[in-house]
Amino acid sequence: MALEQATGADKKQQDMLRASGEIPKHIAIIMDGNGRWAKRRGLPRIAGHHEGVNSVRDIVEACGQLGVKYLTLYAFSTENWRRPVDEVSMLMRLLLKALRDERDRLHENEVQLKAIGDISSLPNDIQDELLDASELMKHNTGLTLILALSYSGRWDLTRAMKRIAEDVRNGTLTKDQINEEVISQYLSTKDFSDPDLMIRTSGENRISNFLLWQLAYSEIAISHVHWPDFRRKQLYESIAEFQQRERRFGMTSEQIQDTQGVPVSSGPLSGVERFFKSVAKL
Ligand code: FPP
Repeated sequence: MALEQATGADKKQQDMLRASGEIPKHIAIIMDGNGRWAKRRGLPRIAGHHEGVNSVRDIVEACGQLGVKYLTLYAFSTENWRRPVDEVSMLMRLLLKALRDERDRLHENEVQLKAIGDISSLPNDIQDELLDASELMKHNTGLTLILALSYSGRWDLTRAMKRIAEDVRNGTLTKDQINEEVISQYLSTKDFSDPDLMIRTSGENRISNFLLWQLAYSEIAISHVHWPDFRRKQLYESIAEFQQRERRFGMTSEQIQDTQGVPVSSGPLSGVERFFKSVAKL
């Protein structure tokens, strides 16, 4: 099965984005603003979540076409269990429906599906669907879509610490062997690289207990549109913003330029300008 490629003006924009700099290997998204999107239209909150699924579909497809390797979506946080029971149960039903409806399309597009979080706390039918879908897609070679469900960064770190303590106690690990790489291996994200870019929609400037360890060096792009309005155009803008950043990982700008062999301000910036011009023409 092959990935459905972009066409027309969209393909042009994707080509421009690839030419203007690096495409982030891992993008993580806090999908925020579904409720506000609905409220603004005088609709129930669930209408925002419904429309949010259409954004998920568009962003997954665009990321696959661009060659993004990992896309992590914060779909339901540990804290979201505190929402009104009706909203939680509607969200669970919507998630189940979306998994069932999208499964074949995802598979045809070479997507691998993974879930991180306290999956055992989810309704059984969702757990079954996640297991079946990830089994079906396990040999796919395209985008890895990681759904963070009943997830929080503190939950992930607490679980890792417990498991490390257990392994020290049973002798498979010594205290001196514990370092950053080892800790990363005890997190639910051990099979994925850390996010290069974290996008949050709806204009909030918070991490909200997302990937606390993994976001240490991620670039953060805040989009002011609500998640149901966040489509590939806004994704391309966030990636173009990422391409303009200089990722220093604690080093100096000069050190980064030495390792890259080119001044950071040349190359990508002119590409980004070209990209924005092309978007403006559409
Ligand atoms: C945040 O908006 C959104 C959520 C808590 C749920 C996100 C779920 C989906 C988009 C649907 C299912 C997802 C998948 C992966 C198929 P909010 O309700 O916090 O909005 P508000 O801040 O405006 O109230």
